[in-house]
Amino acid sequence: MKNIAVFASGSGSNFQAIIDVIQAGELDANISILVCDKPNAYAIKRARVAGIPSFIFNPKDYTSKEDYEKDIATELKSKGVEFVVLAGYMRLIGDTLLEEYEGRIVNIHPSLLPDFPGKDAIGQALDAKVKVSGVTIHFVDKGMDTGPIIVQERVRLDQFETRESLQGKIHSIEHKLYPSTLQMLLTQGGEIYGKKARTN
Ligand code: GRF
Repeated sequence: MKNIAVFASGSGSNFQAIIDVIQAGELDANISILVCDKPNAYAIKRARVAGIPSFIFNPKDYTSKEDYEKDIATELKSKGVEFVVLAGYMRLIGDTLLEEYEGRIVNIHPSLLPDFPGKDAIGQALDAKVKVSGVTIHFVDKGMDTGPIIVQERVRLDQFETRESLQGKIHSIEHKLYPSTLQMLLTQGGEIYGKKARTN
């Protein structure tokens, strides 16, 4: 069973979905640590309830990304983390973590990439008045939501779609799609992400 780290900055509903499927025996993984850059994030409470250790840091306490990522990398290595899952982590991953984990870091993004990368993808989709948006799970590289795509699922926008309604639809897709994709990646492992990482 692989040791994974989950990185989150906010509510952590995706983190919770992953905790729940592991507890239900439907995902063969062990969450060794939550990494969180927001000391007040609700995700931290979820970790505590589930008995998962947290590494909580404030980027302002560090002089550079390299500095805090070195601390994160030390934590991950001490916990034997083999795979990193970004779930609403609002920072770009830098060279320090990419050197250790590239090809083994995935992210979930609330749009059909390459459309609407970056912040507030849901607001961007609403402003663009698209009829279809969705969810993308992808490997993480240096860029902003640019890494090789693993899977996408579409969602249709209604005529009177609001931010809340679209967010609800997206979350309900994410909470199923992330665990099932992780199960595929973690059990069929190297071959799949090796291939993806090379061909894209
Ligand atoms: C999700 O919609 C995810 O796609 C994006 O950030 C959001 C995090 O939500 N990257 P939550 O904290 O998991 O509820």
